[in-house]
Amino acid sequence: MPDLGLGPGRILHHKDDARANKKCVLKTIFAQISVQMTDNDFVPVPYTHQAMAGKIGWEAPSNIALVKYWGKKANQIPANPSISFTLSASTTTTLVTYRKLEQFGEEFDFDFLFEGTAKEEFKPKIKTFFSRIERFLPFLKQYHFTIESSNSFPHSSGIASSASSMAALALCLVALEKRLNPAMSPEFLTKKASFLARLGSGSACRSVQGDLVQWGAHTGTVGSSDLYGIKYPYAVHPIFGNYQDTILLVDRGPKQVSSTLGHDLMHGHPFSQQRFDQAQQNLTKLRPVFEEGDLDAFVEIVESEALTLHAMMMTSLPYFVLIKPNTLEIINKIWAFRQKSKTHLCFTLDAGANVHLLYPEGEKGEVLQFIKNELVAYCENGQYICDKIGYGPKKM
Ligand code: PMV
Repeated sequence: MPDLGLGPGRILHHKDDARANKKCVLKTIFAQISVQMTDNDFVPVPYTHQAMAGKIGWEAPSNIALVKYWGKKANQIPANPSISFTLSASTTTTLVTYRKLEQFGEEFDFDFLFEGTAKEEFKPKIKTFFSRIERFLPFLKQYHFTIESSNSFPHSSGIASSASSMAALALCLVALEKRLNPAMSPEFLTKKASFLARLGSGSACRSVQGDLVQWGAHTGTVGSSDLYGIKYPYAVHPIFGNYQDTILLVDRGPKQVSSTLGHDLMHGHPFSQQRFDQAQQNLTKLRPVFEEGDLDAFVEIVESEALTLHAMMMTSLPYFVLIKPNTLEIINKIWAFRQKSKTHLCFTLDAGANVHLLYPEGEKGEVLQFIKNELVAYCENGQYICDKIGYGPKKM
């Protein structure tokens, strides 16, 4: 298993448990005495260095939420906390070439290329992102940027690329800030990248590190914040090491309803408060589940979260349905297979029809055979992506 460092949020080998737990306790005490950060902590002090021209590249992964973020307050503050596995194979690579302008005006000055081709239609989203983060990166209008981005997964796969793309872009911009302020610590760089990525797409704030990341204030999790994601700070059983995520591409079409609209529909939703409370409770319940490796309880929480997310969509006004008949066929097949095989295969869903199959590495052979035999038929063009838990972004 790669990169099995000790420490909170890392999947642990048993022999490492004692040391890691000690480290957990110390971190817990430290986090309790540390002061809650605010937006103002991300406004930089005057820069000490100059950067005239250069290039910065980052590859950032997608993530899959176990407890789902659905509903937000102003400034991309989540209505409930969420937690996700950072993925490994589904990534966005972004290269930012920057050149300091001799004269700069009121506009952001950038070009955007997606997979080698200029994409004017993507620019408004980046412009909105830049306006939201300008207060925290005051140099943005002083440069011309060429932003080149590409995904490891097919563009029209129905996989949301906003998490990986906003995370990669945020990392590039904070890395540029580090050239202006080399004293910035790696920990602060990650935290600020998460804080900024959140302002592009909420779930993106969980994509700037691995492997289990929590975002949103939760009373049972020290150090948790609405402003950025944190590495899960408690012990995690080794069964979750190399946990697999096979993504079945059921519907590769564009999203019918944007997640922005979906989040908005949680305002005045008849079940919103119960849902937000439930997410808090599910996070509390996950703590012993992660620690003990209780896969039966894990399956129950994860599947319930996925179905609740879609139940919220179906019970909002206007209501909408994102799952497809094949999504339901797959879910029923999974339930039958799980009972028969005594494996711990479970599913989760994002805001779409695709199905993420989660299972421990030890069950891979049996599950992949089942996917080939029984589930591929429900995928568009028979396509699926084999991914797994990942350990965070990479500097290019
Ligand atoms: O990050 P957004 O605004 O695209 O919202 C994504 C929400 C879900 O993917 C449905 C759930 C989650 O927590 O990732």
